[in-house]
Amino acid sequence: MPVVAIVGAGVIGVSWARLFAEAGWTVRVSDPRPDLAEIVTRELAGLPATAVADLAEAAAGADFVQESGPERIELKRQMFATLAAATSDDTVLASSSSSLLPSVIAEGNAAASRIVVGHPFNPPELMPLVEVVPGAATSAETVARAVEVYRGLGKKPITLKKEIPGFVGNRLQKVFNDQAMYLVQQGVVSASDLDELVKASLGPRWATIGPFESMHLGGGPDGMRHLVSHVGSQMTFEIGKPDREHLDAVLEEVEKDYGTAETYPDRVAARDRRTRAVVDALAAAEQE
Ligand SMILES: NC(=O)c1ccc[n+]([C@@H]2O[C@H](COP(=O)([O-])OP(=O)(O)OC[C@H]3O[C@@H](n4cnc5c(N)ncnc54)[C@H](O)[C@@H]3O)[C@@H](O)[C@H]2O)c1
Repeated sequence: MPVVAIVGAGVIGVSWARLFAEAGWTVRVSDPRPDLAEIVTRELAGLPATAVADLAEAAAGADFVQESGPERIELKRQMFATLAAATSDDTVLASSSSSLLPSVIAEGNAAASRIVVGHPFNPPELMPLVEVVPGAATSAETVARAVEVYRGLGKKPITLKKEIPGFVGNRLQKVFNDQAMYLVQQGVVSASDLDELVKASLGPRWATIGPFESMHLGGGPDGMRHLVSHVGSQMTFEIGKPDREHLDAVLEEVEKDYGTAETYPDRVAARDRRTRAVVDALAAAEQE
C-alpha cells in the first residue's frame, strides 16, 4: 500500500488522513501536540493510520506528503526543510496552505521542484475541489503526480496556470464574503436572510453550472456576449466594502442566529450531511 505522511492533526489534517486511509493508503500522522495518539485513535479508528510524532520519521519512505500545519510561513519553511531531507527525489511535498505562495514556502529549499500547494476546501473528505498551485520552481512531474493522487482519492483537482495570493477559490470567496458583510452592516438584509437568499439562488446555480456558463446562459441564445452589453452594462454601481474595524454588530447577529461553541458539533454534522447530499446528487445526475 502507498504511504502518505499527513503533517498536522488539526481540522484539515485529520480529514485528509481519513480520506487517504479510506482510499487504501497507509497513513502516518505527525504533529507535536501531546494528544496526537488520542486523536489518531479516536478520529481514525479501524483505519490503517498511525501517530508518528517525529516529522522526519513520519516522512521517511513516504510516497506523498500532505502538509496541513499552522498557516505561518516560518513554520512551513522549517517543516518543508525537514520534509525535503527526509524524503526521496520522487516524493511530492504538498501543502494545504490557504494563502501562502508555494514559491515563498519553497524559497531556499533544495527540493523546491517537489513542492506544490494542494489546497482543499474544508472538509477535504467531502468537498471535491483541490486547487493545485505550482510555484516558480515546481516541476511538471510534481504537478502531474499531485493531480493523479488527488484524482485517485476521488477529488476534482484544478491546476492553476500560475500562483497568486489567495489562489482562485479564496479570492472569489473574499470578494463575496466582503460584500455579504457589507450588506448586513449597512442594514440592507439580515445575516440569516442573506444565507437563505444564497442557498436559494447562487448556491444551487454555482453548484451546477459555474459563473461563466451561467453568464453565457443568462444572455439567452446570444450568450455572454449579449449579457455583458445588455444587463451587464447597467451594473455600474459601486459595491462598497465592510468596515472591518466595526464588525461587532455583525458578529453578534451571526452568533445569535447560529450559536457558538456549544452548537458547533451539530452545525458541522448538518453541513456535512447537506454537502454529501448535494455532491452525491450531482454525481448521480452526471450518470443520467
Ligand atoms: N480550516 C480551513 O478551513 C482550511 C481550509 C483549507 C486549507 N487550510 C489550511 O490547512 C492548514 C491547516 O489548517 P487547520 O485549519 O487544520 O489548522 P489547525 O490549527 O486546526 O491545525 C494545525 C495543526 O498543526 C499542528 N502543528 C503545529 N506545529 C506543527 C509542526 N511543527 N509540525 C506538524 N504539525 C504542527 C498543530 O498542533 C495543529 O494540530 C493551514 O495551512 C490552512 O491554511 C485550512
